[in-house]
Amino acid sequence: MDRGQLIELGTAMGALAATTPIAKPLPPALLTRRDSNAEMRWEAMAGQGYVVPRDRFFVRNHTQSPLVAADTWRLRLFGTGLRGAPSRADPVEFDLGDLRAMPAEETTALLECAGNGRRFFASQQAHPAPGVPWGLGAVGVARWRGVRLSTVLRHAGLTDAAVDVQPEGLDPDYVTGGVNLGRVRRPLPIGKALDDVLLAYEMNGRPLPTDHGFPVRLVVPGWIGVSSIKWVGPVEVSATALFSPWNTQFYRMFGPGHPVDGRFVTTTTVKSAFELPWDARIPAGAEVLLRGRSWSGNGPIRAVETSTDDGTTWHPADLDPADEGGVWQRWTTVWRPPGPGRWTLRARATDVTGTRQPDQARPNALGYLFDGIVRHPVTVG
Ligand code: MTE
Repeated sequence: MDRGQLIELGTAMGALAATTPIAKPLPPALLTRRDSNAEMRWEAMAGQGYVVPRDRFFVRNHTQSPLVAADTWRLRLFGTGLRGAPSRADPVEFDLGDLRAMPAEETTALLECAGNGRRFFASQQAHPAPGVPWGLGAVGVARWRGVRLSTVLRHAGLTDAAVDVQPEGLDPDYVTGGVNLGRVRRPLPIGKALDDVLLAYEMNGRPLPTDHGFPVRLVVPGWIGVSSIKWVGPVEVSATALFSPWNTQFYRMFGPGHPVDGRFVTTTTVKSAFELPWDARIPAGAEVLLRGRSWSGNGPIRAVETSTDDGTTWHPADLDPADEGGVWQRWTTVWRPPGPGRWTLRARATDVTGTRQPDQARPNALGYLFDGIVRHPVTVG
């Protein structure tokens, strides 16, 4: 890494941790930079396998990636939901070796930012929302290996009284509008924490990359990306409900049709993307094989349809049988463009619960969970 990129020094859990905006290279063919974040380009997935390679996996950083030293890193659990470690000053500690010595599990899970697709609230629905103007590339699938959070909680002395588990990142405090909101942290209800959540130390067969949470991050399958806290250090386990700006102020659905104090967002919605550049050029006069992927936090995808005539007619896409029951579904469809010019491609998926992508997503103040059908422009000729 370029030492010139190191712009801040801070103390993280006793270890001196430098930070860098994003550590990995951001080649424009793979990723689009959006302030402190990087969005995967969908054309970079064309011809790829099921998982997203680490070099093109999207990055969502509230601030910067900390460079955490693995040898001094500790997971520190405390709180009123544990036996004998009520205070932050006197936690139960595990180092990386302790976690690696516990039974390991590998899971293929999808991570998606709640704001993925936010820009379409503005461009398709004339309803702009503040926040990172993601297209559809704030999503990725990886093989994560680690230890179940439930295993670690039990080793730490979990009691039946615990209701919330709040992991905290070791990245710098998040400051917005002149207010320091502290470290990125979001309470996880104990039911989910004890279900399928992983404390992951590997991504696609290798140690986690710096930007994706080295040495250890949470992976919370099916839930919006902010639940999957990176660079986790302290973990509060509480017998009373916990609150942070990430479950009170952000990542809630506010606005008409939602409760006055908003709705806590858990699972992601159903979406589809073509593995094509935005404004792709497609040769005229020949059949083309269009490829894409669909996914939903509710469970597997049951059907995908595409339309090339502004949504007048819809045709079933061919689903790759290898992906049946998986966290996302690859599909193809053959298109013979009727002639040169500008065309719009549409894809809509239906998930296992019968939920189908609507023409319009329901707006909300912070632009989360866009599930509307995306109008993907292409030029033929
Ligand atoms: N954890 C910490 N500590 N800091 C962060 O900024 N961003 C969250 C989550 N975990 C974040 C974090 C959000 S909003 C998302 S979408 C995912 O990490 C993104 O994970 P990735 O950068 O590995 O793709």
